[in-house]
Amino acid sequence: MNAAVPRPVSPPSGSTFDSIRDYVRELDARGRVLHVDAMDQDQYEVTAFAYRLIDKFGIEQAPAFMVDRIRINGQWMEGPLLANPYGRWPDEAVLFGVPDITSDYQQMYRAVMQEMEKRLDPSGGWRRIPPVELSDPRAAPCKQVILKGDAVDIEKFAWLKNNPADAGRYVNITSVIMDDPEFGKNTGTYRCQVRDGRRISINPEPSQHGWRILTAMRKRGDKVAKVAIAVGADPFTFCASSTKMAGFREDELEFAGGLRGRPLEVVKCETSHIRVPAHAEMIIEGEVPLDEGLDEGPYGEMYGYLGPMKPNNFFMNIQCITHRQQPWIVNSFTGLTCDMPRSPQIAANFFMYRKLIPNLTGLYSPRGANGVIVISIDKKLPGEGMAAGQYLAANVGLNKVVIVVDKDINILEPSQILHALGARWQPSASLMIPRTQMMMPDPSRTHWALSSKMIIDATRQLEAEGGPKSWAPLNRDLLVKGAPGCFPLVDGKWDEYLKDWK
Ligand SMILES: Cc1cc2nc3c(=O)[nH]c(=O)nc-3n(C[C@H](O)[C@H](O)[C@H](O)COP(=O)(O)O)c2cc1C
Repeated sequence: MNAAVPRPVSPPSGSTFDSIRDYVRELDARGRVLHVDAMDQDQYEVTAFAYRLIDKFGIEQAPAFMVDRIRINGQWMEGPLLANPYGRWPDEAVLFGVPDITSDYQQMYRAVMQEMEKRLDPSGGWRRIPPVELSDPRAAPCKQVILKGDAVDIEKFAWLKNNPADAGRYVNITSVIMDDPEFGKNTGTYRCQVRDGRRISINPEPSQHGWRILTAMRKRGDKVAKVAIAVGADPFTFCASSTKMAGFREDELEFAGGLRGRPLEVVKCETSHIRVPAHAEMIIEGEVPLDEGLDEGPYGEMYGYLGPMKPNNFFMNIQCITHRQQPWIVNSFTGLTCDMPRSPQIAANFFMYRKLIPNLTGLYSPRGANGVIVISIDKKLPGEGMAAGQYLAANVGLNKVVIVVDKDINILEPSQILHALGARWQPSASLMIPRTQMMMPDPSRTHWALSSKMIIDATRQLEAEGGPKSWAPLNRDLLVKGAPGCFPLVDGKWDEYLKDWK
């Protein structure tokens, strides 16, 4: 994305989707969802299919898929189960209302980033729009079916055990909602392990906002916390709940409204005062006991490695389940599929860092490479590449390896990044930070909160930085300079060249 894009005054363009169904149906109408009738998860068929899909299509192109019926523990269960709904730039463009959708993923990336810019308020923060409450709760799709008392049985839905090494079946596309008069509102995505028909574990990692609220309630002397888990929430709620858009005590549901450009519709829970997204697939309501816990996990985590069992983790006694008719089960194959819209997270980092690095021209986190981040800068002065990299390396939630390139490198294209490493970078233009804070579950760490980090300055080094006296010109630049008509000529005849190409 280009830092020079002016701050627009117009509101967000489209984003009319109320629910994940609405969004996926739009993708489906464009032929971008793969459907399978039935799969046997007792043989881990759905998991293996997710891996193969990415093996064959590539991580940036693998489509969303839906499975109608799934065999679990010997029983055929009704789906549909949805996975990998986000992440391809043309699909993100559909989600955020880009007017002209094409299959050119770079063009769509730029268009989506411009849409993100429209979602900022005048101070440069994410715009917020408070939710509105439905006056008639019966109009809420998430309450089409209400299960209380003996009817509560969370096991009867098609939650998957993703991997034989996981501790059990998980509800892993959640928005866990809390609302406390003293500690405020919070919505966070935390994986939840199905324990039996009426109990479910909840895994906010230490220092997450949900963890801070539950821990503070415990310290206050509360015996239980009322909690609601929205499953399969609309894309904007899920995006706000699974990222750090909202600070502590800020309400993610307001950010969801800001992202979609109009208020989120909420409805009151059956068993508490908590307001939940009305268009979610399912709401699981209950109480988290604050003086007991259950061991939870192990679970295959976001880096693609098995994470440890978490002793004495939080769990919920389920009091009520409300859901749509035939609720969609949205599943994360953690560390593999793309489970949340990517654009706001990438844009948020870009917007944050361009305040610190005025000549920042682009920022990208390549998919499948947690901990690696690439930025481009319009370098003018010696030391700028390394200085920019240091800002990113200081982030405790990201960025073990920071690669800085010149602005002419297309940071969406891994081959161009590798080109910069091969042709512009000298390994001496790097900085290794031996030990600093990092909170991500990187399996190579030896301490849960610490990591070493590396800044790779792959910008063309100036003479003062130890680089060559002058850099040889690029062949392509010389071509354009010496034969300015050559690309227009080829572009004009492109369809003719390819007319017999199958
Ligand atoms: C699919 C998915 C699953 C996640 N699971 C967890 C989890 O189990 N525990 C956790 O602490 N964070 C998890 N996260 C990351 C958090 O949702 C994210 O850090 C969020 O900002 C937490 O909300 P909070 O800031 O309100 O605590 C997950 C994210 C995604 C996209």
